[in-house]
Amino acid sequence: MSATPFYDEEESEFYGMCVEDLIRRRQRSHGSAFGMVELGVGTAKTICGVLRRVGASIHVHGFEIDESSFRSARSNIRDHALEDRYRLTHGDFFEAMADLPARGCLISNPPYLPSPDPQIRLPHLWGGEHGDHISRRAIALGFPHVLLMLSSFANPLGLLRWARAHDYSLVHWVARPIEFGDYSSEPKVRRHIDELAAAGRSFVTEDSYLLVGATWSKEGPSADRSAELARLIRGHSVPRHSGSAPSARLTREGISAAVISDRRQDSPMVATDSE
Ligand SMILES: C[S@@+](CC[C@H](N)C(=O)[O-])C[C@H]1O[C@@H](n2cnc3c(N)ncnc32)[C@H](O)[C@@H]1O
Repeated sequence: MSATPFYDEEESEFYGMCVEDLIRRRQRSHGSAFGMVELGVGTAKTICGVLRRVGASIHVHGFEIDESSFRSARSNIRDHALEDRYRLTHGDFFEAMADLPARGCLISNPPYLPSPDPQIRLPHLWGGEHGDHISRRAIALGFPHVLLMLSSFANPLGLLRWARAHDYSLVHWVARPIEFGDYSSEPKVRRHIDELAAAGRSFVTEDSYLLVGATWSKEGPSADRSAELARLIRGHSVPRHSGSAPSARLTREGISAAVISDRRQDSPMVATDSE
């Protein structure tokens, strides 16, 4: 399987911001970071940027299944002279994990496009029928810490419940509205999202969805923030049959802050959490 490598400035850089925030929170609370394992490196551009900005003690082992993405990642990592800190493996993350311990923190902006089948523009972005299949598999691996990008159109409430059922607490989240892009606007995908919305599995306005950087942990007595995130996600929707663009606009403006976090009184990216 090989196609165009995925890189979206808005989405990929938001993912990078969430990863950098996680590293800095960890450094503040524990004085050190942890090893990170990445599912789906893409072009590696984003995480190269993060690694250049944070301390040299941070290491990532990334896995990429798609051949052209892998090649692009390898060349970007080389250009940034990060080979010693950003290890890259070409292949299926889940197959590789059969022989590796689930240690440290799993990070991923996973494939989450929902569609009845993988015949979509970029098949390696397919997240199963409801969009959350890869995320569920990742959570089931049992890493002590997990940071996943979660889309409000990919069965987000089901995914929050899945994580709870796997003994995770949602310890931190940051969300932002994103306009449907080239891949989520593909008619087959967009139609399917509308069907999922009718079934209560997608939460979208006419032109946007919420993208959330969600961090779960299995460690420590952590308060779980799933309910507050679920409330925000439920609010990001247009009442069915209202047919009114103004209502869609109103919904978007209601959350028009570029980034919404679980600690709104502070700078959005300096969030306390229950870690
Ligand atoms: C949404 S893209 C994210 C890429 C990059 N992290 C970013 O945010 O720009 C998801 C990536 O996961 C890769 N991928 C999908 N399934 C995979 C698997 N089972 N193992 C490794 N990589 C996978 C895809 O090829 C794609 O590059």
